[in-house]
Amino acid sequence: MAVQRCIEPACGATFGLNERLYVCSLCGGLLDIEKPCELIGEALALREVWMTRLASPDTSDRSGVWRFRELLPFSDNAPIVSLAEGNTPLYEAPRSARYCGLQSLKLKHQGSNPTGSFKDTGMTTAVTQARILGARLLVCASTGNTAASLAAYAARAELACAILVPQGQVSLAKLAQTLDYGAMVLEIEGNFDDAMRAIRELAEDESIYLVNSINPFRIEGQKTVAAELLQQLGWQVPDHLVMPGGNLGNSSAFGKGFRELFDLGLIDRLPQLTVVQAEGAAPFAHLFARHEQYRPAQDTPVKLTVIENPQTLASAINIGAPVSWQKAWREIVWTRGHALSVSEQEIADAKAIIGRDGVGCEPASATTVAGIKRLVADSIVGKDENVVAVLTGHLLKDTDYVINYHRETLYTSDHAEGKTETGTRITGTFANHPVRVSATGDDILKTLECEQQQRKLQNQGK
Ligand code: F0G
Repeated sequence: MAVQRCIEPACGATFGLNERLYVCSLCGGLLDIEKPCELIGEALALREVWMTRLASPDTSDRSGVWRFRELLPFSDNAPIVSLAEGNTPLYEAPRSARYCGLQSLKLKHQGSNPTGSFKDTGMTTAVTQARILGARLLVCASTGNTAASLAAYAARAELACAILVPQGQVSLAKLAQTLDYGAMVLEIEGNFDDAMRAIRELAEDESIYLVNSINPFRIEGQKTVAAELLQQLGWQVPDHLVMPGGNLGNSSAFGKGFRELFDLGLIDRLPQLTVVQAEGAAPFAHLFARHEQYRPAQDTPVKLTVIENPQTLASAINIGAPVSWQKAWREIVWTRGHALSVSEQEIADAKAIIGRDGVGCEPASATTVAGIKRLVADSIVGKDENVVAVLTGHLLKDTDYVINYHRETLYTSDHAEGKTETGTRITGTFANHPVRVSATGDDILKTLECEQQQRKLQNQGK
């Protein structure tokens, strides 16, 4: 029987799957879902089953989450809420690889999910669990992507949902999605951490079901991407898996996914997990830096210091008090991974390079390539190692940022009309300006020639 188990070593209390909890009711610790490994022995056959399901006409077979249902804590007749999530592409990215100093680099693009971010892989399981529990009103706090994802899945399940977002800090694209899917959107004064605090108070109300990643059923869906990735890699375990860190649910989920596949005997080692944060919102990277020297064992108590006023243009990860840090820490220690932070300039340039691979992503996702470049320069990652970066959100999630970078009007602090210019301008190292031209063949040809010449020179220099 699967259970919910408190992750605190001194507690470890267990609860039934249908108890509506988000944290341990005895000690307040985070909860893991634990499913006994009854598949050992037949595990290798699962690889074939999971592959075969891709060709099935059944939605729950084809979903990149539900086709791995043997790993999930749901019965066969669960009332699945799916939008055909998962099954996202894994790209070779030669330009980004050269930029990082690697022989090759792969990008796992979770922005190719139905609402354009990795959140969908966890929302399908959380909203399915909401249906099982008979919840009526689903809520979350969000920097935008969880909002869009919950709004879509709640609409699909014909359930009401309410979303708390920090006013003025969510990209218009994410807000537009959320409104269009019909969610109640509450804009609060304050930042994401304030919204998260408020929502945890609300969660004590029985009529409300909380679907932030503190909810362990979110993590269950998100963990399946580990199996999907390994399948795409022919079950060859990469040396490093690098992802952005905000509330730290995603890194917790990847870690859990890999560990479970290891326990099942489907892989014989774990990739090193690395979490990259933006410099102005990097409590987890700071925690790692404080402990890097002596590499604590799993049960060494560590304490994260919250950042009161986090600041980054990568608004998706503008988080100072990550809810799942203990789980993410556990995964970093288990896999002998890393955590680091990168500057706004590094994020912006890395993002433009990912674009030049024809892939693109939102700013938060680009922390990965910026982080890998640093790790290669510091010889923590070897040039010929197998590295996968996880891109978490689609390029079109934050077009303001993109346009401003290419126009060279991107500033590190809010630069809206009427506000003082207090920030630093991000250099458009790889800026790509639009060129004004008159509507005549001659002028167009001349301009094109000139542009091509300039690009040739630029490419020689880089
Ligand atoms: N990348 C993107 C694009 C995100 O939207 C988020 C988180 C992360 C990375 C970080 O993932 O929180 O699991 O460490 N977005 C949340 C939201 C907070 O509300 O959409 P994490």
